[in-house]
Amino acid sequence: MDIKSAALATSGAQKIDWAEQAMTTLRIIRERFSEEQPLAGMRLAACMHVTAETGALMRALKAGGADVRLCASNPLTTQDDVAAALAVGDEIPVFAIRGEDTDSYFRHVDAALDHAPHITMDDGCDLVTRLHTRRTELLDAVIGGTEETTTGVTRLRSMVADDALRFPVIAVNDAATKHLFDNRYGTGQSTIDGILRATNRLLAGSCFVVCGYGWCGRGLATRAAGMGARVVVTEVEPIRALEAVMDGYTVLPIAEAARIGDFFCTVAGNKHVIAAEHFAAMRDGAVIANAGHFDVELDLGTLYEIAAERRQLRPSLEELRMRDGRRIYLLAEGRLVNLAAAEGHPADVMDLSFSAQALSAEHLARTAGTLEADVHAVPETIDAAVARLKLESMGVRIDSLTRSQTDYLREWREGT
Ligand code: NAI
Repeated sequence: MDIKSAALATSGAQKIDWAEQAMTTLRIIRERFSEEQPLAGMRLAACMHVTAETGALMRALKAGGADVRLCASNPLTTQDDVAAALAVGDEIPVFAIRGEDTDSYFRHVDAALDHAPHITMDDGCDLVTRLHTRRTELLDAVIGGTEETTTGVTRLRSMVADDALRFPVIAVNDAATKHLFDNRYGTGQSTIDGILRATNRLLAGSCFVVCGYGWCGRGLATRAAGMGARVVVTEVEPIRALEAVMDGYTVLPIAEAARIGDFFCTVAGNKHVIAAEHFAAMRDGAVIANAGHFDVELDLGTLYEIAAERRQLRPSLEELRMRDGRRIYLLAEGRLVNLAAAEGHPADVMDLSFSAQALSAEHLARTAGTLEADVHAVPETIDAAVARLKLESMGVRIDSLTRSQTDYLREWREGT
């Protein structure tokens, strides 16, 4: 293991216990896993944000019989106390230290891969790409993997298009019980949380620019508007842009939005969404952040070049003074602001994503050797089971179709 300090284990264990309290669906799955041991004999390498919710998932996988190793999926999102709790209390080898440099980050990815995993669990596709480029000797042992986020699924599809992917990967992100809730409500709330913790500024009356109106962007726009901000959306897809217009937001090209925004947050899964010419147009005091997976959405290389002076004013807030005297405030070094400046998504919503993860890992173990080397959807039965369990745990009851309604829905001859 490689963690910051084993002495942090108690506080980390308390955090995981608190998260588990809200992860009711995962708890039910964990209980079944303990009895049935569906992952017995499986070595599982996970590359995830090392948060309390991930801790709960690791415990569930271990309870299911998996031999688990964990490394961070981002250098700045590790909760060192959670890493310690898992390593010391749960005896799961963890390789993650908040603030690690790029070399340590990949050393840790390699340490997770040294486990020679049967199953990979990725958040951003770094395990899978590393396996296919630098660690190809380990490929034969892998029966399959799961992928947590949009950017990871995009990378996997590029691998398929290049005929490069050598084992099946389940796109957990694309499950309805994942992106409809985690990306939208989780990212929406926790990104606002990160921006507020970093700045302690008032959103009411401000102009808040959301770059990218996908699942995360929709959630973020709703929450920013709910806090009283005037929301401006930038997009490249006409249908998404139209949806933003009809949801009541102003839609502008980034070159125009740059001139009027007080807060900017990218959630596009793309590079240089805010680039040099946009920084040049921003008002004095503009705050910029990113909640997309990689720290490429803001062109930070150029920003640092054009800055005359830089100073850290608060833990996740850096002031960049431009040569013309304007100041731009960068949050969390351009890394996922909700995880780096706050604690990531609330446990209640990660309960859905991580239940889908646990059941997808079980599905891989049960179908070992039968799935093609491709990107696979989460089976509909898993999606439906997760939603049903979550509703039950929330005490929400719904109706069922009557016999005649079922017949009506099947009967194409019956019209007006
Ligand atoms: P999505 O694919 O649903 O939405 C992305 C949107 O950005 C699309 O509508 C696309 O047209 C737009 N876009 C692409 N390039 C653009 C540009 N140059 N300017 C303006 N818009 C542009 O993706 P989703 O699920 O919303 O995820 C977005 C990013 O957030 C991904 O990198 C994903 O991995 C990450 N993510 C982050 C989370 C967090 O905890 N911060 C949680 C879940 C996802």
